[in-house]
Amino acid sequence: MTVLVTGATGNVGRHVVAGLLEKGVPVRAMTRTPARASLPDGVDVVRGDLADPGSLDAALAGVDRAYLFPLPGTAEEFTARAAKAGVRRIVVLSSVAAEYADGDYSGDHHTAVERAVEASGLEWTHVRPGEFMANLLDWWAPSIRAEGVVRAPFGSTRSTPVHEADIADVAVSALLEDGHAGKAYCFSGPESLAKTEQVRVLGEVLGREIRFEELTPDGARTLWLRQGMPPEAVDWLLQDPVDVPVGPTAEQVTGRPARTFAQWVADHRADF
Ligand SMILES: NC(=O)c1ccc[n+]([C@@H]2O[C@H](COP(=O)([O-])OP(=O)(O)OC[C@H]3O[C@@H](n4cnc5c(N)ncnc54)[C@H](OP(=O)(O)O)[C@@H]3O)[C@@H](O)[C@H]2O)c1
Repeated sequence: MTVLVTGATGNVGRHVVAGLLEKGVPVRAMTRTPARASLPDGVDVVRGDLADPGSLDAALAGVDRAYLFPLPGTAEEFTARAAKAGVRRIVVLSSVAAEYADGDYSGDHHTAVERAVEASGLEWTHVRPGEFMANLLDWWAPSIRAEGVVRAPFGSTRSTPVHEADIADVAVSALLEDGHAGKAYCFSGPESLAKTEQVRVLGEVLGREIRFEELTPDGARTLWLRQGMPPEAVDWLLQDPVDVPVGPTAEQVTGRPARTFAQWVADHRADF
């Protein structure tokens, strides 16, 4: 059995690759730039671009199962080519936002991919995590490294971020085990944390003082647009803040307790 991992150089994809290798499963990893991919020895690294369906056939040849990074524009092409190549099972990296009503920026993005895979006739599982802890690598790590400060809006709003290794563990279970076909797994991280509490944990684990400066929504909009975030993503992130409760975690699938935020910070010490 060979498993194709798309998005293999990403936060989740790297852990999917590692998880499959650990189980002794042959892995083909797809990337747009193999020279920069730095994937482990033993992985069959192939060039391919989800945005360019013509590049996918070589990556799909001889593959039985696939982990799909979600790109809505070409998801139907991907699944059609996968089915033709003999792939029998696709595990989609989706989002808890796919549960929401139509018209949600992130929900629609992921629903489009889920529907394409469901329509393919192949076995499918949707992995629907909530907010990634890894977002902080882009959002907070640069100012922590440079100035020891976090600037963000909604300091008291609670969220339940998920460790990327738990997302990958769910995907690996769905790729390799029986009993996950036709299921959509929504999950949060194991703790509900205000942003101010996340900053406190960062300081404790990293062993240095990190300040929190609360931005107004307008201040956040200006900063994020200047940093190159797409305007529709900024609008989505600045919707009325709501506390996100802890829900089912990755443990529902993996049988292991979900990783904590403190664990994530320790795993990313070098990034901060
Ligand atoms: N951030 C969140 O809070 C959150 C929450 C729920 C769901 N999600 C979903 O998870 C995804 C992020 O997963 P991740 O962090 O593992 O991925 P990632 O690190 O952002 O990217 C994964 C890899 O996919 C390839 N890729 C990225 N964009 C592409 C594009 N437009 N066309 C073709 N290839 C592309 C790149 O690989 P190469 O350059 O090597 O080709 C990249 O390294 C989001 O896009 C979203 O769909 C995110």
